[in-house]
Amino acid sequence: MSPHPAARAFPAPAKLNLSLRITGRRPDGYHLLESLFCLIDLCDTVWLLPRSDGQIILHNPAGGIPPEQDLSYRAARALQQFSGSPQGVEIWLNKRIPSGGGLGGGSSDAATVLLALNHLWRTAVPPEQLHTLGLALGADVPFFLFGQNAFAQGIGEILRPMAVPEQWYVVVHPHTHVSTPKIFAHPDLTRNSPPCPNPSFEQLQPFRNDMQAVVLAEYPSVAAAFRLLQNHGRPQMSGSGACLFLACATQSEAEHIRSRLPENLASWCVRGLSRHPLSAMLCP
Ligand code: C5P
Repeated sequence: MSPHPAARAFPAPAKLNLSLRITGRRPDGYHLLESLFCLIDLCDTVWLLPRSDGQIILHNPAGGIPPEQDLSYRAARALQQFSGSPQGVEIWLNKRIPSGGGLGGGSSDAATVLLALNHLWRTAVPPEQLHTLGLALGADVPFFLFGQNAFAQGIGEILRPMAVPEQWYVVVHPHTHVSTPKIFAHPDLTRNSPPCPNPSFEQLQPFRNDMQAVVLAEYPSVAAAFRLLQNHGRPQMSGSGACLFLACATQSEAEHIRSRLPENLASWCVRGLSRHPLSAMLCP
């Protein structure tokens, strides 16, 4: 179903975890992380049309789940309940970011709904409160609300800006769904990486992802795609996978590598962003 002509389009960019170390575990079982998040220009589009009757209607939830379970629907409901706004909204999602691939698509859609609806409904919920609403939806949502590349600690909610040099990436999606809870619960997962004492883009090198070894051991199709990318550089996994990426200095290098990948492997050439596209749109 295509969006209503009066609906407004808002971008929701994907992310890559350029580095992801697991430094411990909280008493509630959640893992403590240190991660360098980078926004990329692979974007979903979220279409929003406010309604005066208070109804929230999501036309096309991702992955065939009931609309009420979709993070973008739940983001709208959370803002409505917190702000007490009498308004509702119709939502259409144009998904380009693969779901469940470690690129944060669902979390980014939810953050875009919070930011854009706060603007359209004129609810003026302050950023700290949007952060709290976002964290209740998922550990990656606060990063997308933050608006720029960041070094994250805690379970992803403690954020500080960290500049990432302009780079291109070849991103590959092995057609596999990795179960995030399964990987976090795995006995072989590294959980004791030392925290970086003085984090900066340079100090965090060499980048690594502590979830990668377990995912490669458990999912042969991810391991096969990883070996393929090793012919072209030093691949890494984003989040809990299954997406893998190679960093490239230039667009032509990224496009050259992508042109040599088999056609049956979903892949993208993407550019790193320094800011969230909504930060310019909503805060000119
Ligand atoms: O935040 P998200 O819903 O993606 O987390 C899915 C599951 O992954 C959680 O229920 C938890 O078991 C695990 N997890 C974790 N530590 C984190 C994030 C997620 O153990 N920092």
